[in-house]
This record gives sequence, structure tokens and C-alpha cells, in this order.
Amino acid sequence: MIREYQNIWKEAKKELSTSAHGLDHTKRVYELCKKMEDENTNSDVLLPAAILHDIARYEEDNDDTGEVDHAILGADKAAKILKETGFEDRQIDKIKHCIKAHRFRSDEEPVTTEAKILSDADKLDAIGAVGVARMFMLAGEFQEHLYRDVDPEEYVEENMAKNGRVKDISEHSPNLEYELKLKKVPDKLYTEEAKKVGRQRLDYMDSFFDRLKKEIDGKI
Ligand SMILES: [Fe+2]
Ligand SMILES: [Fe+2]
Repeated sequence: MIREYQNIWKEAKKELSTSAHGLDHTKRVYELCKKMEDENTNSDVLLPAAILHDIARYEEDNDDTGEVDHAILGADKAAKILKETGFEDRQIDKIKHCIKAHRFRSDEEPVTTEAKILSDADKLDAIGAVGVARMFMLAGEFQEHLYRDVDPEEYVEENMAKNGRVKDISEHSPNLEYELKLKKVPDKLYTEEAKKVGRQRLDYMDSFFDRLKKEIDGKI
């Protein structure tokens, strides 16, 4: 049971589902942030940002226009919650920056230590064994393929918009998500600690997809 920031957790739980981007993911990101923070980190910025970073995910997932950005909307929703919980404006601005900059394809780069740690923690939760498990949760939710043996470049040409969004999710699969997006995660990490963990997690994913292909091809 996470005891700190009870009020904020209470508000976040109202917004978070049990999906791969939901409450369990937020709890893991929160724990990773606690593990990565040091004496130079402001916990009262980092940890509230971790709790609230995905509160607009539902809106983005259910938006057909493709225009809702959960990082931008989430920062605004978070500001409202924080204001009601008694946070000062200066602190709220710092938390908003962390939330806006946490996204993989964000236009806003993380500038502060807290924003870099949150971004790293969020990325680490997308790779490794957890990353594999989350991808298959999403694959089930969106009725993707279990595996697709196609040329990634041709796939990008046919099924990906310029902003990196998948056009037809039913044509997608976890191995394509790994090839096209998650393999690049270590390049987007900021802290040394996260880079070290990131390399280990990616090695695991490499061996997982290698094994999956061998089994599908009947070699094992
Ligand atoms: Fe997010
Ligand atoms: Fe997240």
C-alpha cells in the first residue's frame, strides 16, 4: 500500500483504468521514480507528477480525431487537482512540466531532474519483461496479431501516419511495436541509472522475440 500523497492517489485512481496504461503502470512508475531519485531531487515535484502523469490517457485512447495529447491534457487536469490539494503555483508549474515532457513523442523535452527521472521511469516500464507483458495486454485489448512476419519498412509505409501513429491497429503486433518503437527507448533515456537498467531490459526483450520467432517457425 502506497501511503504517501493519499489525496492525490485518490484523485488519480478515479481517472486510471486497469489497462496497460492504468493504475498498475502508475504504481510501477512511482516505485521506479522513488528508486531513481537522489538528494538533488525534489520528491514533492517528482512523486505527485508520477502519480498524475497518465490521468488523461483514457481521453487520448478514446479520441477518434487523433488530436488529444494525454501529456498536455494530463498536465492541465493535474494542475486542477494539485491546486485543490493545496499545492503552490510554483510547484504546480514544475509538476506540469514533468507531465508534459514525459511522453515518448513529446514536443517538450524534459529539462529538470524530476522531469528526466519521470520520463526515464515511464520508458523503463515499457521495456523488459514488464514491457513484453504490457504489449500483449494491449494486443489483446485492440485485437492485434500475436506476431507478424513482415518487413518493418514496408509496414511503416503502409500502416503508419507521419506522426508515428498506427493507422489500423488490427494490422499491428507486439514484435512490430518492439522493432519500430521500443528498441529506440534506450536512446531516449536521460539518467545513467536508467540507461544501465534499460540495456538489461532490452537484452531480455531481444531474447524473448528471438525465441518467439523460433517457436512460430517451428524451430523449437
Ligand atoms: Fe503517458
Ligand atoms: Fe505512463
